[in-house]
Amino acid sequence: MKPVKFKIDGRVCTAEKGQNLIEAAKANGIFIPTLCYFKHLNPLGSCRICTVKNNGRPIAGCTLNVDEGMDIEVNSAELLDLRKAILEMMFVEGNHFCPSCEKSGDCEMQNLGYETGIRYARFPHLFVDRVVDARPERIVVNQNRCIKCKRCIEEIKTNDGHKVFHLTQRGNRTMVSVDYEQEAKLSEQQAEHAMHICPTGSILVKGKTFGKPFGDRQFDYAKANTNIPLTDLK
Ligand code: SF4
Ligand code: FES
Repeated sequence: MKPVKFKIDGRVCTAEKGQNLIEAAKANGIFIPTLCYFKHLNPLGSCRICTVKNNGRPIAGCTLNVDEGMDIEVNSAELLDLRKAILEMMFVEGNHFCPSCEKSGDCEMQNLGYETGIRYARFPHLFVDRVVDARPERIVVNQNRCIKCKRCIEEIKTNDGHKVFHLTQRGNRTMVSVDYEQEAKLSEQQAEHAMHICPTGSILVKGKTFGKPFGDRQFDYAKANTNIPLTDLK
């Protein structure tokens, strides 16, 4: 692959032509927040947390492949605030009571809340009352925590290739539903993978929650691994 030069926030970066921007930025020491992006899946572009500007135009960074001469803006005050607002909307649109959530400390959305410096939401809470579905064999799906990122839909398949999760209903009633017949075919490891790839606490494995003590959880020391500036710590 041909190496190309491009800029992020005025800094000259190098990557292979066509490399995904999230990965290219990471290789150059620059963190772009993501939620629906998952390295080996085609970009889903559903959450917009990765919004950057490409030559002045806002775009989901995870859907961009780098090319010679690109001029990318990531950490301007405007974009930091925009990403924070998107995250705030996600928090008010569901019920995310982090301290009591089984995924606390292992939750990508909670971690981004800390990283972006959210102290409160500018938008009214919807206080939704959605289904907590415990009927599947191995997992529980709490719809109140689902951000419809679609990772589970694209990633989790049975050994014979069937999808386990599907989007059902429409508009603000859209939800991720489980195909019980296919879910029953998942191995314990596949079910744990579903819990792991969910960026919130929406998918839980029965009997496998609160599995790690404080200090061992994925994001307990996350700030050391990212370079996003803590903003708006008033
Ligand atoms: Fe995303 Fe989790 Fe909802 Fe699936 S259940 S769409 S992985 S938030
Ligand atoms: Fe890019 Fe979700 S991470 S749109």
